[in-house]
Amino acid sequence: MENIGRATFGSKFGALMATLGTAVGLGNIWRFPYMCGANGGGAFLFVFLLCALLLGLPVMITEFFIGRHSKKNATGAFDVLAPGTHWNVIGFNGVLAAFLILGFYTVVSGWTMGYMFQSLSGSLNGKTADDFTSDFSLFISSAPRLMFWTVIVVIMTHYIIYSGVKKGIERSAKFMMPLLFIVLFALTIRSITLPGAKAGLQFLFNPDFSKITSATILSAMGQSFFSLSIGMGCLITYSSYFGKTTNIQTTAFQVTLLDTFVAVLASVMIFPAVFSFGIQPTAGAELVFITLPNVFEQLPLGNLWAFVFYLLLAVAAITSIISLHEVVTLYIHEEHHVTRKKAAIYVSAGILVLASISSLSLGIWKEYTLFGLTFFDFLDYITAKIMLPFGGMMICIFVGRRIEKKILKEELTNKGTTSFYFFNIYAFFIKHIAPVAIGLIFLYETGLIHWIMNLLN
Ligand code: TRP
Repeated sequence: MENIGRATFGSKFGALMATLGTAVGLGNIWRFPYMCGANGGGAFLFVFLLCALLLGLPVMITEFFIGRHSKKNATGAFDVLAPGTHWNVIGFNGVLAAFLILGFYTVVSGWTMGYMFQSLSGSLNGKTADDFTSDFSLFISSAPRLMFWTVIVVIMTHYIIYSGVKKGIERSAKFMMPLLFIVLFALTIRSITLPGAKAGLQFLFNPDFSKITSATILSAMGQSFFSLSIGMGCLITYSSYFGKTTNIQTTAFQVTLLDTFVAVLASVMIFPAVFSFGIQPTAGAELVFITLPNVFEQLPLGNLWAFVFYLLLAVAAITSIISLHEVVTLYIHEEHHVTRKKAAIYVSAGILVLASISSLSLGIWKEYTLFGLTFFDFLDYITAKIMLPFGGMMICIFVGRRIEKKILKEELTNKGTTSFYFFNIYAFFIKHIAPVAIGLIFLYETGLIHWIMNLLN
């Protein structure tokens, strides 16, 4: 077989850590707490958990099936499973999405690095709430400073990808993911032992079900997909490195559970601290780069906590960036017959160009917009709201309609050596429930549903 000699992860633990590395990222520590804050706390958490388990988990298993069965990159996998068809468009969509996500994700990671450095140098000290607000807008509009940090992020990622699957991706994840958990636990304990932390915990764990609206459900569903890295071939790519004996269901279950756990823990870390200092949980970028520096400023050893927090964010972000980089690198390497190292160089160079444009679009190029959005926001919008739901939906349709159930079951049970009790329920979900549910998010989030309703009326 032509796949002989292809890289695989060295151990099950390594495979788990690498996959967890892609899932746990800015989505868990930055986006989840803010979404939760904006959507009524506990109620959002409840719906999110349901979405992750009922939709996220089955779609993840499906991506793992495609990856390990074909042992190919996100596009090539479809050519192996459905030769001579156009299903590989799903893979192209994914590879392109990965590249576009890198264009803004590396920039936000650069902010994180910048703040990590500032906490070390003490320049976050002695500032007022207004200072933090103006500092942040100054920071994101200073292109050279931003580019400096983005370049550092890209160099680190490049080095890891360049070192290969086992020696780069797996080894770094085996080190970084446990570190992430240690740091997260330390910060959480610090936060919940603050006076007045209880209000934050109540906000998170006392769901007010009257707050659940259709918008909550759709946001929670979208968030669970983003957080689990579903819909663009990241999981296809990583699972193509899984060994024969890796248990797909267990791995998917563990990744879903741990990823969700990190999102919850990040909220348990952030809300008590925020409430304890009488600050409201505000939206988006502000929560982490404006609100939290205020909290750190008031803590004893504030600089140390700030450093540890941004380190946590940086580690989470980098393992996700590695996975996105790998999707594109592996695609170029396998489909265009370029060596892996050369492919990695092309991708890193491409990211730098894209990231420069998106950085500048927050500063001097603010006036140039696409569909009313800055280039930075455009990249975020088109990937998270259009390309990922489309990919996720198509992946389910592809496996549900095109793959024989027998082949699916064989792969998912390692040729019958492990059992899969819920196989029939899983297969039903993939074929009938998941595509409809994802299709709905897509229609709502893009506003297309209003357009359709108007047509029908
Ligand atoms: N899941 C990561 C996070 O929570 C981001 C991410 C990495 C991602 N790879 C992805 C999101 C693929 C969607 C698709 O931050």
